[in-house]
Amino acid sequence: MTTSIELHTEFVIDAVSPLIFGGFLEHMGRCIYEGVYDPDSAHADEDGFRTDVLEALRGLDLSVVRYPGGNFASGYHWRDGIGPLDERPVVRELAWQSIEPNRFGTEEFLKLCRKLGWEPMLAVNLGTGTPEEARDWVEYCNAPTGTRIADLRAANGSEPPHGVELWCLGNEMDGPWQLGHVPAADYAVRAQQAAKMMKDCDRSVRLVACGSSGPQMPTYLDWDRVVLEYLGGLADYVSLHRYVGNANGVTSDYLAITNSIDRQIEEVDACCRFVQGKRRGSKRAYLCFDEWNVWYKLRAREDMDGGAKFAPHLIEEIYNVEDALVVAGFLQSFIRHADSVKIANIAQLVNIIAPIQTRGDDLLIQSTYWPFQMISQRGRGLALRASVRGPRYESELYGDVALLDTSAIFDPERGELHLFLTNRSESEVERVELKVLDRAIGGVVSAEQLAGSSPHDANSWDEPERVVKRAWDGVHCDGQTASAELPPLSFTAVTFRLA
Ligand code: AHR
Repeated sequence: MTTSIELHTEFVIDAVSPLIFGGFLEHMGRCIYEGVYDPDSAHADEDGFRTDVLEALRGLDLSVVRYPGGNFASGYHWRDGIGPLDERPVVRELAWQSIEPNRFGTEEFLKLCRKLGWEPMLAVNLGTGTPEEARDWVEYCNAPTGTRIADLRAANGSEPPHGVELWCLGNEMDGPWQLGHVPAADYAVRAQQAAKMMKDCDRSVRLVACGSSGPQMPTYLDWDRVVLEYLGGLADYVSLHRYVGNANGVTSDYLAITNSIDRQIEEVDACCRFVQGKRRGSKRAYLCFDEWNVWYKLRAREDMDGGAKFAPHLIEEIYNVEDALVVAGFLQSFIRHADSVKIANIAQLVNIIAPIQTRGDDLLIQSTYWPFQMISQRGRGLALRASVRGPRYESELYGDVALLDTSAIFDPERGELHLFLTNRSESEVERVELKVLDRAIGGVVSAEQLAGSSPHDANSWDEPERVVKRAWDGVHCDGQTASAELPPLSFTAVTFRLA
């Protein structure tokens, strides 16, 4: 069967925000300790960061990283994580029932961001913390020295302000599991108080209001509406969260889940536009998908209970081929919605539901690492509106879906076109024909593919390279058209040079 794709470099959705290639580091399990930070590791650098992990993270080409949680943020007091290491308190951490020694805090995180070129995104505590504590954190990070809190930063060795622009107003406050959870109207008041003071303290900060934790929430969309109406122009973004999985063990259904991701984006965006219209405002809140990933195999209570231990093994999910295709699906959806999704963070980066795992001094790259890299390394430019005609199928859970999941980015500066293609078929090769209506295709700059013989193939410590991306020479160019035969269960990224 054949899918034909037609593109025109002027049929643009919007510029792809570089911030959709973001990540997330939470004080949970072994994400920070034994993950990015491990002074006892043979790989530790002079700051205690694991150089092997940092090298792997560099390969993801991340633009922005959210910290310190997650649910952890709702019980975190940032002052515990600054100052001399031996004076920092060891505390009982309630979100994950763990011991938190606070050896990694604001300064360590921001140093890591500088090393890796990440834009930092801090989540303030609006669960057990106060709006004033949130405002103080902005002063600590961003104000010039000469005031009590900014001078604390200088005393900790950071004289120049850090200039942190992105701040989340709490985390998943709609969820009863959240420390300090309250109904929407109460959260809105708390968030407004914090937001006003944070912006009064530094006009350049951009704020993310807590949206619904996902479409499964009983308050889905109502929560977002109430919060956005109350916050008005203080909300620059609203957050979306989504964790998905193969709910019924049927791969074709699972791969169609992108329908529901598209839908979630469109529904929350509709809410933002509704509130903008109602306020007759010129400002619209954009979407910040600040937690997304596959997470369903380790969902039992004990998988998330740290048992009052330091750096416990929590939700270290193993990813396979179908999970990797779904990760590609999230990113393809963000590209297709480039006009509304402006920030997105895969949750998380190391050990906790992550593309990178550590074991002692060893490191394992999971299947989901590759599609993220294949897209993020090609992710700069203009998202194009593609006309796609080809076979479709009916998914029992997610309805009618195209056999090929597609998205495209045109980089006008380099004159390159990036095309992303997921063949959802488990058994059939799918032929694809591409036509660029206004340009000739000058050739292939690069093509890479991740394919699996089984949806359940995964990397392991014994077989670390079972699922990897490989360079691919299966694309044929002929003037204005290009064609390829995509293997079943595959994700392909191609960069074309346009004449
Ligand atoms: O990423 C793991 C957890 O999932 C986060 O802490 C929380 O925000 C979400 O429920």
